[in-house]
Amino acid sequence: MRICVVGSGGREHALAHVLGRHHEVVVTPGNPAIEGSVATPPEDVAADLVVIGPEAPLVDGLADRLRADGRLVFGPGADGARLEGSKAWMKEVLVDAGVATAAHGAFTDEAEALAFLDAMGDLFVVKTDGLAAGKGVLVTTDRAEAVDAVRAYLSGEAFGDAGRTLVIEEGLTGPELSVLAVCDGHDAVALAPAQDFKRLGDGDAGPNTGGMGAYSPVPVATDAAVEALMDDAVRPTLAALRRRGIDYRGVLYCGLMFTPTGPKVLEYNVRFGDPETQVVLPRLVDDLGELLAAAAAGDLSGRVPAFDDGAAVTVVCASEGYPVAPRTGDPIEGLEAASAIEGVTVFAAGVGEVDGRLVTAGGRVLTVTGQGSDVAEARSRAYAAVGELSWPGMQVRGDVAASPTVAG
Ligand code: AMP
Ligand code: GLY
Repeated sequence: MRICVVGSGGREHALAHVLGRHHEVVVTPGNPAIEGSVATPPEDVAADLVVIGPEAPLVDGLADRLRADGRLVFGPGADGARLEGSKAWMKEVLVDAGVATAAHGAFTDEAEALAFLDAMGDLFVVKTDGLAAGKGVLVTTDRAEAVDAVRAYLSGEAFGDAGRTLVIEEGLTGPELSVLAVCDGHDAVALAPAQDFKRLGDGDAGPNTGGMGAYSPVPVATDAAVEALMDDAVRPTLAALRRRGIDYRGVLYCGLMFTPTGPKVLEYNVRFGDPETQVVLPRLVDDLGELLAAAAAGDLSGRVPAFDDGAAVTVVCASEGYPVAPRTGDPIEGLEAASAIEGVTVFAAGVGEVDGRLVTAGGRVLTVTGQGSDVAEARSRAYAAVGELSWPGMQVRGDVAASPTVAG
């Protein structure tokens, strides 16, 4: 097949890399470090299958427009993508589907929001309803910070319209897990589970980010736990979507927390996770293109994707100032030496080109994946490669997959 991947980050680089094992791949718009990048808009790229990476074009209806044109597309339409486009709606669907999730309320009024906040205990969770590039979630024990966030979100000051409705949740604790389910509209299969490191600093210090690293497999995620998640959350959610007339074909990314009172779904995303994709897909033994094409055509027919027995660890190298105000334009050094290390693949996320040199062009710049026979080997390979890379102010978490059961 000739496959078109839409997007320009580390996730799309990993998709292109793994799809490229069996197929011809073009990436739009891609970036200067992703082979096969083209500037042509997706509508004009000739391809047998289009795989849409980021949430924004999905929420914006790109999959609908391509399907209306007769194209085979992996990615939900705008109706299903609302699961990520509106957290308040997502919570409604979760409740309707009978899925265990944090207690919540959705608000546009400050006084009501603050009253609910105080009723939720002393771990405060405030989220924008709409898309905020992974930055719209505040989890804090500092009440004053939570109150400030409520005001800044509702006024539009912090995230524009995305925050004018907000969701306040019960604060949960426990190890987290990301499960990427490939859905064909009525059924789904789980890919290998991964765990993401969301906070900027070692020991989970600092602000939430899009993700500073990930690893797979995850000890806490036994096969039984993943199957229970598919039966108790993913399949009932697909059924709840079908009741609303939504034919969901794409990834349903389930963010889960193992709380003291059992597993609970924190969130759904409507796309592959970033950086989870960079550890999950390299471990896939089967042909990813065939799997995604079957889901896009509405018939997974019992396919069960196989993964290798090894492990993968990815470490994100971010620019100075990420996540608040990333600095761009710094020359990236050491890419060749890093990529030459056994078992290592470097995926380019925020990379640009100036005068023929690769430079930083975003917050998360590179994701460095190491693979090995176990997490320890994969981890030491990933960090050896990170050691070859540099630019002024490069930020890296040093404890990704250091104790592989708990991450935040
Ligand atoms: P989300 O984008 O909704 O996954 O939130 C980002 C991160 O915030 C999650 O991965 C969790 O680490 C944290 N988080 C979200 N919701 C809650 C919650 N109800 N309780 C505790 N932590 C949460
Ligand atoms: N790594 C979290 C996300 O993709 O949303």
